[in-house]
Amino acid sequence: MIKPYLGFWERLARPIVALAPMDGITDLVCRVIVARHGRPDVLFTEFVHVQGLQYAPQRLFQSLDYTELERPIVAQVYGHRPEDFYIAAFIVCELGFDGIDINMGCPAKKVTRRHGGAQLITLPEIALEIIRTVRRAMGDWVGGKNLEDLNVRPKLIHAVREGQRQHALIPRPKDRRPLPYSVKTRLGYDTVTIESWIKTLLTESPATISIHGRTLKQMYKGQADWEAIGQAAKIAQGSGTLILGNGDITSLQQASDLIQKSGVDGVLVGRGAIGNPWIFQNKAILRQVVNNHKNEDVPPPQISLEERFRLIMEHARLLEEVRGPRQYNSIKKHLVHYLSHFPNAAPLRAQAVQTKNVEELRTLLERVVS
Ligand SMILES: Cc1cc2nc3c(=O)[nH]c(=O)nc-3n(C[C@H](O)[C@H](O)[C@H](O)COP(=O)(O)O)c2cc1C
Repeated sequence: MIKPYLGFWERLARPIVALAPMDGITDLVCRVIVARHGRPDVLFTEFVHVQGLQYAPQRLFQSLDYTELERPIVAQVYGHRPEDFYIAAFIVCELGFDGIDINMGCPAKKVTRRHGGAQLITLPEIALEIIRTVRRAMGDWVGGKNLEDLNVRPKLIHAVREGQRQHALIPRPKDRRPLPYSVKTRLGYDTVTIESWIKTLLTESPATISIHGRTLKQMYKGQADWEAIGQAAKIAQGSGTLILGNGDITSLQQASDLIQKSGVDGVLVGRGAIGNPWIFQNKAILRQVVNNHKNEDVPPPQISLEERFRLIMEHARLLEEVRGPRQYNSIKKHLVHYLSHFPNAAPLRAQAVQTKNVEELRTLLERVVS
């Protein structure tokens, strides 16, 4: 087994607290808001299809937009054909990401039907071939090979060069360095097989393995099994690969308890961060508690209604600025979360989802706090 190359992961304080990738949620605008107000240690893009990427559709390239504020930022990709991952790895390197993450955990039919996502748990040989291919691509890219040397569509090269122009002001190393590659997965397909699955993945030495504590079959039902995540952490001990636990975290207090119980190197927070970018705020306290074995609480951040509404407007305005007023409705999946967990939130939420533009939303929220 080779020693994992950790890249930026090496420099992060432990335990690591990251924002989980969520397709349709953690787009550029959402990530910028979370980065400004929560500052998780790492952010991931929404997953991007490695095969689709080669046709260079604007929609997929939009998913690979990022800003300096989000660093370190990891591009997440999914698919099933190793050769597609080779090209995707080149694109991710060229666009200046800090890492590449391979999705082996998505349970959605449209992904698993084509042997991608969590289906790869049942296809370990292909899963390992994908990781090896990403590593080979990284080596070839560092060795000086260019996208132009690959058999890809001119449209793809154009889209990548355009992306680089847009990222021109984002500082990045001048020389070519390999990116750490990582895997995000689940506990198993229909039963928990994490012990053998982790051992399999470790043979290719990923920098991190993020584990959502459910099987594919469970989808999002039941509770995440952190005991099984803990078993995986035990198996990975000494390998150099970091284990990040994931599933059902709604506060850093809970994260602190679960990290101490399971022995993971860090956590990913997904749904608990929707409409709640502040969730990451007290991670320095969490680190003190965990690293010094203190029997203390990690307090939740105290957010006033005014502050909450200001942030909602910041999110809505940024969305309008970046994607245009016609995309206004996409704020609503965030609004339903922002507008909950405070007294009388329900009627306000019902009105907010009826608003048609940023101005209507502003008028509504101002009425409440005036
Ligand atoms: C709407 C939604 C979209 C998701 N999209 C992705 C994705 O693109 N890539 C991925 O690896 N996981 C994805 N996930 C799974 C989450 O990253 C995470 O593993 C899961 O939600 C469990 O963590 P949580 O309980 O903290 O939300 C998604 C989850 C949700 C709810």
